[in-house]
Amino acid sequence: MKRILLDVMLFALLIFLMAFKMFPRRYHEAMGVVVILPILFHLVWNRSWFSSFRREEWSSFRKLSAAVDVLLIVSTIVALVSGVAIAHRIFKGVFGIVWQKSIFVHQLHITSSYWMLIFSGLHLGLHWNGLWSRFVRWRAWDVSSRAYRLGARLAVVGVAVLGVVGSFLHQVGDRLLMEHVFFRTNTPARGLPPAVFLLLFVGIFGMYAIAGYWMGKRSLQKNG
Ligand code: HEM
Ligand code: HEM
Repeated sequence: MKRILLDVMLFALLIFLMAFKMFPRRYHEAMGVVVILPILFHLVWNRSWFSSFRREEWSSFRKLSAAVDVLLIVSTIVALVSGVAIAHRIFKGVFGIVWQKSIFVHQLHITSSYWMLIFSGLHLGLHWNGLWSRFVRWRAWDVSSRAYRLGARLAVVGVAVLGVVGSFLHQVGDRLLMEHVFFRTNTPARGLPPAVFLLLFVGIFGMYAIAGYWMGKRSLQKNG
C-alpha cells in the first residue's frame, strides 16, 4: 500500500511540474527539488533492481524494461540538474550566471522533462500488471465481470484520445526535439481551462503507459 501511495505521489508531482505555466515559478522550483525525496524513496524501495543487473538471464521483457528504466533515470537527472542550473527564484545562480542564462540549458531542461514524462509513462505501463493486481485485490474488484471489462476498454480509449490531442496541443514533438518552444511562447494548450491543461498531461502520460503495457505484453509473448 505504501508503494502505491508513493507511486501516486510521484505521478501527481510530475504532472504538477509539467504544468509549469499554471503556477508561480517559485512553486515549480520548490517542488522540483522536493520531488527528489519521493524519487529517492522509490529507488531505495526498488533497490533490488540495481543488484539484479548481475543476474544472467536477460529475457526480452527484462531488456525492454531495463532500457526504459535507465533512460528514465538519465532524463530525471538531466531535468533536475538543468532545472537547478536555470533557476532564478529560490535557487538563483546556484551554478553561476552562465548556466542560468544559457539557452541550451533552458532547452535541455524543457526537453528532458518531456522525455521524462514519456519514459515514466512507458515505465508505469511496463509495471502495470504488478501495480494494478495489488490495487484490484485491495478493492476486491471482479476483473472477469462485464462491467469491469467495459470500464477498462472505455478508459483505454479515453486516455488514448486525450494523449493524442494533448500531444498536439502541448506541442510535444517540438519539445522532444529541442525545437524553439520557449517558456514565453505559448502553445495552443495555454488558452484552455486549467483543468483541461492538466488533464492533457495526464492523457499524454497515460497514452505512453498504454504503449508500455502493450510493448511489455508483446515482449513476454516473444520469449517470456
Ligand atoms: C510517475 C512516476 C512513477 C511511477 C508511477 C512509477 C511506478 C513504478 C512501479 C509501479 C514500479 C514497480 C514497483 C513499485 O510499485 O514500486 C516501479 C519500479 C521502479 N521505478 Fe518507478 N515510477 C515512477 C517514477 C520513477 C522515476 C522518476 C524513477 C527513476 C528516476 C523510477 C525508477 C524505478 C526503478 C529503478 C524501479 C525498479 C525497476 C524494476 O523492478 O524493473 N521510477 N516504478
Ligand atoms: C523532474 C523535475 C522537473 C520537471 C519534470 C520539470 C519540468 C519543467 C517544465 C515542463 C517546464 C516548462 C516547459 C514549458 O511549458 O515551457 C519547466 C521550466 C522550468 N523549470 Fe522545471 N522541472 C523540474 C525540475 C526543476 C527544478 C529542480 C528547478 C529549479 C530548482 C526547475 C526550474 C525551472 C525553471 C526556472 C523553468 C523555466 C524555464 C525557462 O526559463 O526556460 N525545474 N520545468
